[in-house]
Amino acid sequence: MKSINFVNHSGYRYYYKFITVSGVIAFFLIMALLSLSCSKDEDTIPKHPCDTIELTFSGVIQPLLQQNCFECHGDGSTRGDVILDTYEDVNEIVFDGRLYGAVNHLAGYSAMPYFRDQLDSCSLYFINKWIEEGAPDN
Ligand code: HEC
Repeated sequence: MKSINFVNHSGYRYYYKFITVSGVIAFFLIMALLSLSCSKDEDTIPKHPCDTIELTFSGVIQPLLQQNCFECHGDGSTRGDVILDTYEDVNEIVFDGRLYGAVNHLAGYSAMPYFRDQLDSCSLYFINKWIEEGAPDN
């Protein structure tokens, strides 16, 4: 009888241990799965289709202005007394609202580029987002 009790006893202990261990494993598995599905959610938050590059003044905004505006506002051209050569120059028309008003063709501003098609939607998106971020000198 004694030996049977002993077997039963240790059998239960083994059983409980098994439940505890598998419980801990299951807990971590569930947590891992949860964190996986959460990070997946973050990845699938829809981004703006133009959001494919790092938005900086030197890497995106300045080249964009050089290409579309310097003919009249850079390299010695000062049409409308607007100069866009340096960050400080651009900053002036950012903070008085004229850059935003001109490129977005808002009422009360001269639409830019002057008598040409409005900038493409990604260029506008970059300028607007950069202004929205506080027009950093980066
Ligand atoms: C073909 C020449 C030309 C190009 C290209 C051009 N501009 Fe202009 N810009 C002008 C002229 C001329 C004026 C003055 C217009 C006026 O007084 O109505 C002006 C005025 C401005 C003003 C002042 C607007 C206001 O209402 O006070 C801003 C800001 C400006 N330009 C920004 C830009 C930007 C940014 C670009 C490029 C996306 C650009 N311009 C491209 C000729 C140009």
